[in-house]
Amino acid sequence: MWSDLPLFPERASSVAGHVDALYFFLVGVTAFFSILIFALVFYFALRCRRRSENERPAEIAGSMALELLWTFVPLVLTMVMFVWGAAIYFRNARPPAGTMEIYVVGKQWMWKLQHPEGNREINELHVPVGVPIKLVMTSEDVIHSFYIPAFRIKQDVLPGRYTSTWFEATKPGKYHLFCAEYCGNHHSGMIGSVVVMEKQDYENWLGGGASPESMTSSGQSLFERLGCANCHRTDDTGRGPTLIGVFGKQVTLESGQTVTADESYLRESIVNPRAKIVLGYKPLMPTFQGQVGEEQILQLLAYIKSLKKAERTATQ
Ligand code: CUA
Repeated sequence: MWSDLPLFPERASSVAGHVDALYFFLVGVTAFFSILIFALVFYFALRCRRRSENERPAEIAGSMALELLWTFVPLVLTMVMFVWGAAIYFRNARPPAGTMEIYVVGKQWMWKLQHPEGNREINELHVPVGVPIKLVMTSEDVIHSFYIPAFRIKQDVLPGRYTSTWFEATKPGKYHLFCAEYCGNHHSGMIGSVVVMEKQDYENWLGGGASPESMTSSGQSLFERLGCANCHRTDDTGRGPTLIGVFGKQVTLESGQTVTADESYLRESIVNPRAKIVLGYKPLMPTFQGQVGEEQILQLLAYIKSLKKAERTATQ
């Protein structure tokens, strides 16, 4: 009903309606109490004004009923805001299973994106409508923030680690993409667009032009070129642990600690391998910091993610 308000960006993702509903609730509560307070201020100012020079008001001892009222009404309202806000936050933080992943690298001053099939884009993102898409994001330099107003999503993009968010576009069209974190001189120029297409059009778009190498196979050739396979074998006989099926698993470290082998852990193991040594292995691995850029690390990750147990025989 509010979608044609000129102040509002279009609503084009599955979460947009939920975000707007909470927003209107917050605005409504705020407006109601602001008006109530101002009305009461004026009303009491008039009603309780001093009418003569020696007028003394009666002393007031307090009121338990009033105390309870203005404790519980705000408590209930803030709990509603908290639970409602948390529900939307968790929904945005947890992509549904089987989400398509797109990799995002921010740098001064552009967005570089890569699709799993290998297609690369700069400042433009093509996505199919009705498909949940997870963005795995990092930065080459400073903090940026990936913001698509029409989807009501905004997520900081940080150097040295991965952040993610997801969306499901509901309407084909072209939407604004902004950087929402001041990141230097041309921050305001770090903009682009998201093009939401019908599934068939997206397939055609993916297939158009020279067909690029998929992220997984770019990652695989990089893995071979850097000599990773010399130590990370398909079984546990190498100098390093096998990477087959490692993604998402719990890994036990020398210290006895266990960590989840997620994107950030794998990235750290590539650029700073001594930070966390897997139990039973020696700190032999050299750092690859400076030898591989963020985009290449993402390709290596795509390859490592593709190494499933079942493919043990197929991979080497
Ligand atoms: Cu990137 Cu502001």
